[in-house]
Amino acid sequence: MKRACVIGWPIGHSRSPLIHGYWLRRYGIDGTYTKEAVKPEAAAQFLRTLNLRGLAGCNVTVPLKEIAFATADHREDSAVAVGAANTVWLEDGRLCCANTDTYGFMTHLSQSAPSWRQTDRAVVILGAGGAARAIVHGILAAGIGEVRVVNRTLDRAAGLAAYFGSNVNAWPWEERNRACRDASVIVNTTTLGMKGEGDPGIDFSSLQGKVVAADIVYVPLETAFLRKAKAARLTTVDGLGMLLHQAVRGFEKWFGVRPEVTTELRDLIVADIGRL
Ligand code: ATR
Repeated sequence: MKRACVIGWPIGHSRSPLIHGYWLRRYGIDGTYTKEAVKPEAAAQFLRTLNLRGLAGCNVTVPLKEIAFATADHREDSAVAVGAANTVWLEDGRLCCANTDTYGFMTHLSQSAPSWRQTDRAVVILGAGGAARAIVHGILAAGIGEVRVVNRTLDRAAGLAAYFGSNVNAWPWEERNRACRDASVIVNTTTLGMKGEGDPGIDFSSLQGKVVAADIVYVPLETAFLRKAKAARLTTVDGLGMLLHQAVRGFEKWFGVRPEVTTELRDLIVADIGRL
């Protein structure tokens, strides 16, 4: 039997067992996927003993993503670009890691808004945390020439801009509406809107041309940011698709089948979110 899990601290909120449990049933695989609460000080030791624990690998969530990155023997480019890992697996006895958030976000963006890519216009990222970093990496790799990172703490946005180079600029939070005005895509990576609280406060009525609004918050599925964008007739991209697509790679590595993100899977998670 093959085994995998998700580790984090705390871990109670994770929906990864639902996602991987669905795929294990769908593909008739003799395997398990559990959640394990692992404290930051115990994370490196846990990861170094995956084999002894009978684990093929695991997902890693907050606050352990940087520890996983530092502990791995081999880091894929996706993880190096972000400086954090959310997926680890054993290969020839080596602990390997990747960051699949970039893939998850970009895949869902391309599926939900196929014409999002306008290389002559800027993309705005609200927020400058780990998720913002993964998304900036994906947007630049898609050939976008200007990314504006807008953050409450300007220093953090400046750090991200310095890391990625001259195509990324840091903007102060107070200037967010000016940064958005001629943008093609606006992505909310802040925690504003989570559990129905807060809203980045973007004035969608003053935007120019075709604009896509994407959120990475998925509880609730329709945040105030997305609801207002939809009311202003923007194309909207919710946060759930990123969660589902980021899971594909890990499942393939641990269980040997590349799984499909189906409507049935999405409905399963939507129903779980609705139970809150
Ligand atoms: P993650 O790594 O998941 O992206 P994070 O590092 O906690 O999460 O980042 C959360 C983001 O939400 C940050 O950009 C944070 O801004 P600061 O860097 O200034 O802390 C942003 N954020 C959280 N609460 C906010 C608020 N009330 N107004 C504006 N931005 C907020």
